[in-house]
Amino acid sequence: MKIEEVKSTTKTQRIASHSHIKGLGLKDNGDALEVSHGLCGQEKAREAAGVVVDMIRSKKMAGKALLMVGPPGTGKTAISLSIAAELGPKVPFCPMVGSEVYSSEVKKTEILMENFRRAIGLRIKETKEVWEGEVTEITPEEVEDPHGGYGKVVSSVIVSLKTTKGQKQLKLDPSIYENIQKEKVAVGDVIYIEATSGAVKRVGRSDAYATEYDLEAEEYVPIPKGDVHKKKEIVQDVTLHDLDIANARPQGGHDFLSLMSQINRPKKTEITEKLRLEINKVVNKYIDHGIAELVPGVLFIDEVHMLDIECFTYLNRALESNLAPIVILATNRGHCTIRGTDMKSPHGIPVDLLDRLLIIRTLPYSLNEIVQILGIRCATEGIEIEEEALAQLATIGTRTSLRFVVQLITPASVLAQTLGKLKISTEEINEISSLFYDGKSSAKILQEQAKFYIS
Ligand SMILES: Nc1ncnc2c1ncn2[C@@H]1O[C@H](COP(=O)(O)OP(=O)(O)OP(=O)(O)O)[C@@H](O)[C@H]1O
Ligand SMILES: [Mg+2]
Repeated sequence: MKIEEVKSTTKTQRIASHSHIKGLGLKDNGDALEVSHGLCGQEKAREAAGVVVDMIRSKKMAGKALLMVGPPGTGKTAISLSIAAELGPKVPFCPMVGSEVYSSEVKKTEILMENFRRAIGLRIKETKEVWEGEVTEITPEEVEDPHGGYGKVVSSVIVSLKTTKGQKQLKLDPSIYENIQKEKVAVGDVIYIEATSGAVKRVGRSDAYATEYDLEAEEYVPIPKGDVHKKKEIVQDVTLHDLDIANARPQGGHDFLSLMSQINRPKKTEITEKLRLEINKVVNKYIDHGIAELVPGVLFIDEVHMLDIECFTYLNRALESNLAPIVILATNRGHCTIRGTDMKSPHGIPVDLLDRLLIIRTLPYSLNEIVQILGIRCATEGIEIEEEALAQLATIGTRTSLRFVVQLITPASVLAQTLGKLKISTEEINEISSLFYDGKSSAKILQEQAKFYIS
């Protein structure tokens, strides 16, 4: 049997329930566009989220918290995720679910603390002496092993780097050859080599090598300008949690460079409070010196009613520390008991925490909005549906829930395929809605037929 010849036929694309969301879809003046970036309706909540994004960008929101409340399936998670999409990959966004804090091994507050620190970024700017350019040659030079034997060892490596201004041939140490191999550098790549540490970084493929039909996910970069040997500002984004992990068993001094140099060596040891304080101290010092800049990100706690009183008290305190991210909470609960107590309070959140929150409400969708959301979902999943069928599905949605009808799309399309149809029609919708029950109707049937069930 030849395994190489067997090709996987599964589609590589996976479709998650929020995959259609690309951003908040706001105009430049902050008003919500009707349908954009995968979102539609819920204008007030989206505009409020837009203001939050602006505050985060201008760094005015650190240590503040936001609560999204609304009935199930009204887009709380969707809008929170689109805030992350708006902020882009450079701002840390750490999503978690309230129930994640319960573990038999780690303290609840420890998990919260870890996620807090995942949500705080640090941008470090350093000017370094580098050689940078497009690689035109890599030739390792070999000599016979000086320790005897028949093998050969690399004694040095010749690397030629080209920029728009000129070309330079470098003879480098064998340790740098190892770094080059680790980064999988080939001729035609743009790289830089740090002069002091010998670290090699592959920036991307030179765009002189870009072809029209490149199937690989390659990043093409222009050939660097200026000299090969120069001073370059290198920006690195890390989170406080990265620094904690990297220094969990400190080696060497606690100056900034050694803090950073630990990052590439993953180890799993306990992070102590003392270590965190020490890291904070070093980080604060470097922020004062202008070498590093704090990038407060977002900690998103979904289903926040799952937290208990201990966690809420901790949140209260953590929000007041000077290294705090923006915290976004979401819940669909009304008046209920706070976990770990027998007190009742709105959303299951203690009133003293509620007092510190800005609250955004999400409202149930109208028929028209459900039609639009279903349309967007069908398009993302690559499913065709007749207009009439879409309207009918949306009507079912007003009776049941948005989530339920979003879930009906896939079985309906499977049924349509089985019948050899290209588009979902009302027939399939009728058939599917008679086959599957939503939560409400199932509960109603339970009530009517209670005597047949064991309870
Ligand atoms: N305004 C919208 N535009 C486009 N899609 C939406 C919108 N609102 C919700 N959706 C989609 O509808 C589904 C349900 O929304 P979501 O999960 O955000 O609800 P939720 O308010 O977080 O509910 P729960 O309280 O149950 O957690 C998701 O697939 C989401 O992507
Ligand atoms: Mg949700």
